[in-house]
Amino acid sequence: MSVANEVAELTVDLGNRSYDIQIGRGLIDVLGASVAELRPARRTAIVTDSNVGPIYLDRVAQSLAKQGLNVSQITLPAGEETKRFSVLEDLLSQLLTMEIERGDFVLALGGGVVGDIAGFAASILKRGVDLVQVPTSLLAQVDSSVGGKTGIDTPHGKNLVGSFHQPKLVVIDTAVLATLPRRELLAGYAEVVKYGLIRNFDFFEWLETHGSDVIGLKAEAVQHAVKTSCRAKSEIVSADEKESGERALLNLGHTFAHALEVCAGYGSALLHGEAVSVGMALAFELAAECDLVQRQEAQRVSAHLRSVGLMTAIKDIKSAFNTAELVDAMRHDKKIVDGAPRLILPRAIGDAFVSSDVTFERIQDFLDARLKD
Ligand SMILES: NC(=O)c1ccc[n+]([C@@H]2O[C@H](COP(=O)([O-])OP(=O)(O)OC[C@H]3O[C@@H](n4cnc5c(N)ncnc54)[C@H](O)[C@@H]3O)[C@@H](O)[C@H]2O)c1
Ligand SMILES: [Zn+2]
Repeated sequence: MSVANEVAELTVDLGNRSYDIQIGRGLIDVLGASVAELRPARRTAIVTDSNVGPIYLDRVAQSLAKQGLNVSQITLPAGEETKRFSVLEDLLSQLLTMEIERGDFVLALGGGVVGDIAGFAASILKRGVDLVQVPTSLLAQVDSSVGGKTGIDTPHGKNLVGSFHQPKLVVIDTAVLATLPRRELLAGYAEVVKYGLIRNFDFFEWLETHGSDVIGLKAEAVQHAVKTSCRAKSEIVSADEKESGERALLNLGHTFAHALEVCAGYGSALLHGEAVSVGMALAFELAAECDLVQRQEAQRVSAHLRSVGLMTAIKDIKSAFNTAELVDAMRHDKKIVDGAPRLILPRAIGDAFVSSDVTFERIQDFLDARLKD
């Protein structure tokens, strides 16, 4: 089989809730067979968004119909604003009208927004309907579709209402990345780099050489990057499904990122992955200042992120920030334990740990220095 047609299969090992992740090009045209193999369901409700639906929905529907599955379709508006109660309510009532039962499937076809809200709807519909994730953004392919976190945003903050609901299958067709806007692709790439930074120096080194091929959508490079990322995520999730330990490492750069996102106002000013890129660079700089990691390592991380076109400094972001607001946002982060910030910091590239030793005062000084003219 040529590399272009290679299909990788990984398993997320969670006992009787284990599931497969398939990765390859062209899989949306054949996923019906894999879904039918899970169980000959009566129905599959495809949930997608207004950008992805017009491009890929018909192909997915045909692939399911070919296996004799009865297909229904729901298209939600694209964008983070979709992850809210009113849309969830409407989605649930459409699924109920379609008479989706516990033996049926909800299939999420889209980026992390669709995966999160469709996954949450599946988890509470009739106390839990089976879910198939078909992620179409790079971020969703390497991160959000694997691991079972689902949810919506509320006026109190992002992802504050949700559930753990592991999918029964994740089908990743890397060819669909061809239509993903470049800015979204780059944002997703930040999460790919994250896996190298937290646990896999060799992968980071590989990305230094092949990152531009991943961004350039060279089939072999994309396959390796997505497979390595999914393997990392699935190993971490298998070891710590509900984030009591190791899973927290996936939040490298995220405490800074969330604060930047809160202050920039969750819009097109700053995408999540862009914030993560800056956040990871900041985590390395802070660790260097605290003598936890060598300064050259921090510079090396920033140099790679910049080389592909990602931002690494708060001043790169086209929004006005002030330290007090950023620190305030960090204090309200849901990952704060007993008032101490729980930061993921590096000892080296490929070796991250959970630290509660850096005070908010220290972080305030650190950010002050970065925001000074
Ligand atoms: N559940 C988790 O573990 C987890 C992890 C990380 C992020 N998330 C969530 O994921 C969301 C972000 O995900 P995202 O970055 O995928 O955002 P998204 O779903 O908004 O997708 C980004 C944009 O790309 C479009 N798009 C997606 N795939 C496309 C394709 N193949 N071709 C053309 N357009 C395409 C979408 O319509 C959207 O406009 C956030 O809500 C975040 O909270 C969840
Ligand atoms: Zn993230």
